Amino acid sequence: MNIVIIVGSLRKDSYNMQLAKTMQERYSAKMNIDIADIRSLPHYEQDEENNPPETVKKFKQSIANADGVIIITPEYNWSIPGVLKNAIDWASRVDKVFIGKPVMAAGVSIGMAGTLRAQLHLREILSGLQAQLLPPSGNEILINFAAQKFDDQSGRLADEPTLGFLDVVVDKFVDFVKLSKKD
Ligand code: FNR
Repeated sequence: MNIVIIVGSLRKDSYNMQLAKTMQERYSAKMNIDIADIRSLPHYEQDEENNPPETVKKFKQSIANADGVIIITPEYNWSIPGVLKNAIDWASRVDKVFIGKPVMAAGVSIGMAGTLRAQLHLREILSGLQAQLLPPSGNEILINFAAQKFDDQSGRLADEPTLGFLDVVVDKFVDFVKLSKKD
Protein backbone atom coordinates (compact mmCIF):
# COMPACT_ATOMS: atom_id res chain seq x y z
CA MET A 1 0.00 0.00 0.00
CA ASN A 2 1.43 3.37 -1.04
CA ILE A 3 0.62 6.31 1.19
CA VAL A 4 1.63 9.96 0.88
CA ILE A 5 1.83 12.14 3.97
CA ILE A 6 1.41 15.88 3.58
CA VAL A 7 2.70 17.91 6.53
CA GLY A 8 1.36 21.43 7.06
CA SER A 9 4.47 22.83 8.77
CA LEU A 10 7.80 23.82 7.22
CA ARG A 11 9.49 24.34 10.60
CA LYS A 12 12.79 22.51 11.07
CA ASP A 13 11.80 20.96 14.41
CA SER A 14 8.12 20.63 13.53
CA TYR A 15 6.20 18.29 15.83
CA ASN A 16 3.86 17.51 12.95
CA MET A 17 6.83 16.43 10.81
CA GLN A 18 8.08 14.39 13.77
CA LEU A 19 4.72 12.61 13.82
CA ALA A 20 5.01 11.96 10.06
CA LYS A 21 8.47 10.44 10.54
CA THR A 22 7.25 8.38 13.51
CA MET A 23 4.48 6.95 11.32
CA GLN A 24 6.81 6.36 8.36
CA GLU A 25 9.05 4.22 10.58
CA ARG A 26 6.45 2.58 12.81
CA TYR A 27 4.16 1.42 10.00
CA SER A 28 6.78 0.48 7.42
CA ALA A 29 5.60 -3.16 7.42
CA LYS A 30 2.01 -2.11 6.62
CA MET A 31 2.59 0.66 4.12
CA ASN A 32 5.19 2.42 2.06
CA ILE A 33 5.01 6.06 3.18
CA ASP A 34 6.42 9.00 1.25
CA ILE A 35 6.41 12.47 2.80
CA ALA A 36 5.45 15.02 0.14
CA ASP A 37 7.60 18.07 -0.48
CA ILE A 38 5.32 21.10 -0.21
CA ARG A 39 8.13 23.54 0.59
CA SER A 40 9.07 23.79 -3.07
CA LEU A 41 5.54 24.52 -4.31
CA PRO A 42 5.10 28.07 -5.61
CA HIS A 43 2.08 30.16 -4.70
CA TYR A 44 -0.99 28.86 -6.47
CA GLU A 45 -1.43 30.74 -9.74
CA GLN A 46 -4.47 30.07 -11.90
CA ASP A 47 -2.71 31.17 -15.10
CA GLU A 48 -0.25 28.32 -14.54
CA GLU A 49 -2.63 25.55 -13.57
CA ASN A 50 -2.82 23.84 -16.99
CA ASN A 51 0.95 23.64 -17.27
CA PRO A 52 2.28 24.10 -13.75
CA PRO A 53 5.93 24.04 -12.62
CA GLU A 54 7.61 20.63 -12.31
CA THR A 55 7.39 20.64 -8.50
CA VAL A 56 3.61 20.97 -8.74
CA LYS A 57 3.36 18.23 -11.37
CA LYS A 58 5.44 15.93 -9.17
CA PHE A 59 3.36 16.72 -6.07
CA LYS A 60 0.07 16.08 -7.89
CA GLN A 61 1.40 12.89 -9.45
CA SER A 62 2.44 11.56 -6.05
CA ILE A 63 -1.12 12.02 -4.77
CA ALA A 64 -2.64 10.54 -7.94
CA ASN A 65 -0.42 7.44 -7.62
CA ALA A 66 -1.03 6.95 -3.88
CA ASP A 67 -3.60 4.54 -2.48
CA GLY A 68 -4.29 7.03 0.30
CA VAL A 69 -3.17 10.33 1.80
CA ILE A 70 -2.50 11.28 5.43
CA ILE A 71 -2.56 14.99 6.19
CA ILE A 72 -0.76 15.99 9.39
CA THR A 73 -1.18 19.62 10.21
CA PRO A 74 -0.68 22.21 12.91
CA GLU A 75 -3.39 24.75 13.66
CA TYR A 76 -2.60 28.32 12.65
CA ASN A 77 -5.07 30.95 13.77
CA TRP A 78 -7.87 28.41 14.19
CA SER A 79 -7.37 27.00 10.72
CA ILE A 80 -4.87 25.16 8.54
CA PRO A 81 -1.57 26.88 7.61
CA GLY A 82 -1.45 28.74 4.31
CA VAL A 83 1.25 26.44 2.93
CA LEU A 84 -1.08 23.47 3.29
CA LYS A 85 -4.02 25.31 1.76
CA ASN A 86 -1.75 26.34 -1.12
CA ALA A 87 -0.79 22.70 -1.75
CA ILE A 88 -4.44 21.60 -1.62
CA ASP A 89 -5.42 24.40 -4.02
CA TRP A 90 -2.90 23.15 -6.62
CA ALA A 91 -4.14 19.57 -6.13
CA SER A 92 -7.78 20.64 -6.51
CA ARG A 93 -7.53 21.90 -10.08
CA VAL A 94 -7.42 20.41 -13.60
CA ASP A 95 -6.83 16.71 -12.85
CA LYS A 96 -8.35 17.05 -9.33
CA VAL A 97 -6.28 14.37 -7.67
CA PHE A 98 -8.23 14.31 -4.39
CA ILE A 99 -11.47 13.04 -5.97
CA GLY A 100 -12.26 9.66 -4.39
CA LYS A 101 -8.91 9.59 -2.55
CA PRO A 102 -8.98 8.04 0.95
CA VAL A 103 -7.67 10.62 3.43
CA MET A 104 -6.87 10.47 7.12
CA ALA A 105 -6.27 13.63 9.16
CA ALA A 106 -4.02 14.16 12.16
CA GLY A 107 -2.45 17.08 13.96
CA VAL A 108 -0.19 18.13 16.79
CA SER A 109 -0.36 21.29 18.90
CA ILE A 110 1.76 22.58 21.72
CA GLY A 111 -1.33 23.82 23.57
CA MET A 112 -4.59 22.25 24.71
CA ALA A 113 -6.73 22.24 21.58
CA GLY A 114 -4.87 19.55 19.62
CA THR A 115 -5.60 21.17 16.21
CA LEU A 116 -9.35 20.44 16.45
CA ARG A 117 -10.41 23.68 14.74
CA ALA A 118 -7.84 23.23 11.96
CA GLN A 119 -9.02 19.67 11.35
CA LEU A 120 -12.65 20.79 11.17
CA HIS A 121 -11.67 23.28 8.45
CA LEU A 122 -9.57 20.63 6.72
CA ARG A 123 -12.53 18.24 6.62
CA GLU A 124 -14.73 20.96 5.15
CA ILE A 125 -12.18 21.73 2.43
CA LEU A 126 -11.62 18.07 1.55
CA SER A 127 -15.35 17.33 1.45
CA GLY A 128 -15.64 20.00 -1.22
CA LEU A 129 -12.95 18.18 -3.20
CA GLN A 130 -14.84 14.87 -2.96
CA ALA A 131 -12.05 13.17 -1.06
CA GLN A 132 -13.08 10.09 0.94
CA LEU A 133 -12.41 11.04 4.54
CA LEU A 134 -11.90 8.44 7.22
CA PRO A 135 -14.99 9.12 9.38
CA PRO A 136 -14.06 11.16 12.47
CA SER A 137 -15.86 9.08 15.10
CA GLY A 138 -13.16 7.32 17.15
CA ASN A 139 -10.49 8.31 14.63
CA GLU A 140 -9.55 11.85 15.61
CA ILE A 141 -5.81 12.13 16.09
CA LEU A 142 -5.64 15.35 18.09
CA ILE A 143 -2.28 15.37 19.85
CA ASN A 144 -2.00 18.20 22.38
CA PHE A 145 0.79 19.30 24.74
CA ALA A 146 3.38 18.09 22.24
CA ALA A 147 6.39 18.96 24.39
CA GLN A 148 5.33 16.26 26.87
CA LYS A 149 4.68 13.59 24.24
CA PHE A 150 7.62 13.88 21.84
CA ASP A 151 11.18 12.90 22.72
CA ASP A 152 13.66 15.76 22.16
CA GLN A 153 16.54 13.38 21.52
CA SER A 154 14.97 11.05 18.97
CA GLY A 155 12.57 13.63 17.52
CA ARG A 156 9.77 11.07 17.57
CA LEU A 157 6.41 10.62 19.30
CA ALA A 158 7.16 8.73 22.51
CA ASP A 159 3.88 8.79 24.48
CA GLU A 160 2.75 5.15 24.69
CA PRO A 161 -1.04 5.73 25.08
CA THR A 162 -0.97 8.08 22.08
CA LEU A 163 1.06 5.59 20.03
CA GLY A 164 -1.41 2.84 20.98
CA PHE A 165 -4.35 4.96 19.81
CA LEU A 166 -2.49 5.82 16.60
CA ASP A 167 -1.95 2.09 15.91
CA VAL A 168 -5.70 1.47 16.15
CA VAL A 169 -6.63 4.37 13.85
CA VAL A 170 -3.95 3.45 11.30
CA ASP A 171 -5.30 -0.12 11.15
CA LYS A 172 -8.77 1.30 10.48
CA PHE A 173 -7.33 3.54 7.77
CA VAL A 174 -5.62 0.56 6.12
CA ASP A 175 -9.02 -1.24 6.01
CA PHE A 176 -10.67 1.94 4.72
CA VAL A 177 -8.14 2.22 1.88
CA LYS A 178 -8.58 -1.47 0.97
CA LEU A 179 -12.37 -1.08 0.90
CA SER A 180 -12.12 2.00 -1.32
CA LYS A 181 -10.06 0.02 -3.86
CA LYS A 182 -12.92 -2.46 -4.23
CA ASP A 183 -15.37 0.29 -5.33
C1 FNR B 1 0.20 28.96 16.06
N1 FNR B 1 -0.15 28.06 17.06
C2 FNR B 1 -1.50 27.79 17.32
N2 FNR B 1 -1.87 26.77 18.16
C3 FNR B 1 -3.17 26.48 18.37
O1 FNR B 1 -3.48 25.54 19.10
N3 FNR B 1 -4.16 27.24 17.76
C4 FNR B 1 -3.87 28.27 16.92
O2 FNR B 1 -4.76 28.90 16.39
C5 FNR B 1 -2.49 28.57 16.69
N4 FNR B 1 -2.13 29.60 15.85
C6 FNR B 1 -0.82 29.74 15.45
C7 FNR B 1 -0.50 30.64 14.44
C8 FNR B 1 0.81 30.73 13.98
C9 FNR B 1 1.14 31.66 12.83
C10 FNR B 1 1.82 29.95 14.59
C11 FNR B 1 3.26 30.04 14.11
C12 FNR B 1 1.53 29.09 15.61
C13 FNR B 1 0.89 27.27 17.76
C14 FNR B 1 1.22 25.98 17.02
O3 FNR B 1 0.31 24.97 17.42
C15 FNR B 1 2.63 25.52 17.34
O4 FNR B 1 3.53 26.52 16.90
C16 FNR B 1 2.98 24.18 16.75
O5 FNR B 1 4.18 23.73 17.32
C17 FNR B 1 3.12 24.27 15.23
O6 FNR B 1 3.35 22.99 14.70
P1 FNR B 1 4.81 22.46 14.29
O7 FNR B 1 5.51 23.52 13.50
O8 FNR B 1 5.52 22.13 15.57
O9 FNR B 1 4.51 21.23 13.49
